[in-house]
Amino acid sequence: MRQSFEPIWLALPFPAFVISSEGIIAEVNDAAEGFCMTSRKQMQGRALAGYTGDGAAVLDAVAQAQGGMRSVVLHDVQVGWGGQGRGVANVQATRLGEGEVLLMLHPRSIADKMDRSLSHRNAARSVAGMAAMLAHEIRNPLAGISGAAQLLSGGLSADDRELTEVIEEEAKRIGDLVNRVEAFGDMGPSAAEPVNIHDILDRAKRAAAAGFAAHMTFKEVFDPSIPPTVGSADQLMQVLVNLLKNAAEAAPAGGVITLKTAYHPGVKLSLPGKRSQSLPIEISVKDNGPGIAASILDDVFEPFVSTKASGTGLGLSLVSKIMADHGGVVDCKSDVNGTEFKLLLPVWKEAR
Ligand SMILES: Nc1ncnc2c1ncn2[C@@H]1O[C@H](COP(=O)(O)OP(=O)(O)O)[C@@H](O)[C@H]1O
Ligand SMILES: [Mg+2]
Repeated sequence: MRQSFEPIWLALPFPAFVISSEGIIAEVNDAAEGFCMTSRKQMQGRALAGYTGDGAAVLDAVAQAQGGMRSVVLHDVQVGWGGQGRGVANVQATRLGEGEVLLMLHPRSIADKMDRSLSHRNAARSVAGMAAMLAHEIRNPLAGISGAAQLLSGGLSADDRELTEVIEEEAKRIGDLVNRVEAFGDMGPSAAEPVNIHDILDRAKRAAAAGFAAHMTFKEVFDPSIPPTVGSADQLMQVLVNLLKNAAEAAPAGGVITLKTAYHPGVKLSLPGKRSQSLPIEISVKDNGPGIAASILDDVFEPFVSTKASGTGLGLSLVSKIMADHGGVVDCKSDVNGTEFKLLLPVWKEAR
């Protein structure tokens, strides 16, 4: 490796190898060590086939690049290393000359998550449009109904007045629901201000602890060095409140919510066809509830998906939309011991 290229090589955010004409691993970068969970020392000088197994698609790609093809991309390849699955990746092999091949792996999971969170945003957008229209259409007849009930109640006995009160109360409940649904559609483009993560975590936690999460214990594991992110503090606060509310509703009495923050400078995500994005700020909201029902695990971010009798199923859809509006990602892990939502966000950059 030419010395001036070495730092670039090592810093490449995806696993990369140089494979010799004999199929021997000549160079390994840092990301490859992490992805393969094998040290560079172990891998260099060994046959690639010894790790991937004979007949692996990765070997095919290398062979094709060494042959006529020069550059080969295989999509959605199951990559194994030393007999263990390492996940699905797009595999790219490019001939460097003399039969040497540059082999690059682009793990799919992160790009997929970003893709999915963007499609959630579209779903939320169309819901928002419909919500605004519906809200408008419902409000007028509703005003008529409750106005008429008020007029009626004047000439009624106490018993019958109870009934008109029910009409008014329920009409008010519909009105509140309409307001909430409409607020969902109202969100304009988010502000682009520096937002201190720990401030909004603190605000969200205090709001939760004073109300719906009064029965919960909070644990905090904060990395104090986190720089501000960018966007709207109010909307990000809404994200956290929604996650805390779900956690409080899921966890047993005396349950524990763990709030964690971490900073990973240098973490870059690349999305096909998009600029690569740096999302080094991580916020995690974890509970020790029974986990998300398996039947809805793949759809929790879709609007109107709910297992709760009085749930709207809009909470996580909103979370996903706000995160996408902020150029971030939300990810969720859940099993019978609890549920964790992870938020990844960009860093605020001073305009120059
Ligand atoms: N922390 C959690 N633990 C278990 N299930 C959860 C959690 N968060 C969300 N869910 C599941 O996801 C569904 C959708 O959540 P959400 O979009 O906030 O709608 P809602 O809370 O109105 O049902 C919930 O009904 C619940 O089944
Ligand atoms: Mg909810």
